[in-house]
Amino acid sequence: MAESGSPSAAGSAAAPAASCCPGPAAPAAQAGAVRERYAAGARAREEALCCPVDYDSRYLEVIPEEVLERDYGCGDPSRHLLPGETVLDLGSGTGKICFIASQIVGPCGRVIGVDMTEEMLAVARRAAPVVAGRLGYANVEFRRGRIEDLALDLDRVASWLEAHPVRDLDGWQALQDEEQRLRQEEPLVADASVDAVVSNCVLNLVEAGLKPQLFRELHRVLRDGGRAVISDIVASREVPLHLQRDPELWSGCISGALSEDGFLRAFEEAGFRGIQLLDRQEDPWRVLEGIEFRSVTVVAFKGRARLWKPRGEAAAEASAGGGCCG
Ligand SMILES: C[S@@+](CC[C@H](N)C(=O)[O-])C[C@H]1O[C@@H](n2cnc3c(N)ncnc32)[C@H](O)[C@@H]1O
Repeated sequence: MAESGSPSAAGSAAAPAASCCPGPAAPAAQAGAVRERYAAGARAREEALCCPVDYDSRYLEVIPEEVLERDYGCGDPSRHLLPGETVLDLGSGTGKICFIASQIVGPCGRVIGVDMTEEMLAVARRAAPVVAGRLGYANVEFRRGRIEDLALDLDRVASWLEAHPVRDLDGWQALQDEEQRLRQEEPLVADASVDAVVSNCVLNLVEAGLKPQLFRELHRVLRDGGRAVISDIVASREVPLHLQRDPELWSGCISGALSEDGFLRAFEEAGFRGIQLLDRQEDPWRVLEGIEFRSVTVVAFKGRARLWKPRGEAAAEASAGGGCCG
């Protein structure tokens, strides 16, 4: 039997559950709106998606302008990374957090960005060699996938489909089989393979019914002792269904937000320990029907709970443990 959170479990859980009732939030309309909005947001800056964030300016100098101007983040999880780490950024967009992380983890560390939108990946992949040239080392790569199904490599699915176009049910079954093979034999992100998972303003965009699977995927890819550092939008109370059903509000990082308690509980239910709120915007980013939407940054550990220390202290501890380049 597949373990909960293993690639095969993620794959089977991705199948829609049979139900007689309409889903809570019309998932297809929202998923379509998210795809279209971020494809457009990769081509040109969209003001409505921007939530001002103070990044450490030292790290921005080497990053091309087209990356910086298409910044749709709401926090800065990169502040909680350490030299030498392997980092996974979920919903990496044009790559800004990856390029900042690249400099913090340094040449001994590694950064992987995952995004589902081809147009976002195109900007990020164009910028990667430019940043590497300016830094003098290359430690960032971008992969195509859905963050709620981190085992499935969508670039490989696309290549397979070119050679095996689906024309009938047999073709559709063959595609399902290939997807399952890819998850098991060539996962996009393997079990227990990263030290830190970060994300900046993306988890809220994942369909409501797939959010538990998303948090299990974060847990699966972390090594024991690893941590998730997630910046995202949360709501002051549960978002009512009529707002959740609005694709514009959903794709705008508003109505897909979990309540603040629900967000912390989602980590706990996926098996995380030592869950701590690192940052919490005092003034809300948006208020809608009396509900406040604000950015928070949370750290949560796989395995033993730890008290998270500010970067200076944690970095000193990490370097006292020896060099990272072996
Ligand atoms: C609000 S933007 C944030 C981008 C980036 N993190 C930043 O700080 O600028 C959301 C990003 O997540 C991607 N995205 C949304 N839902 C996704 C999913 N289910 N799987 C993978 N990527 C997703 C979008 O393509 C987009 O690039």
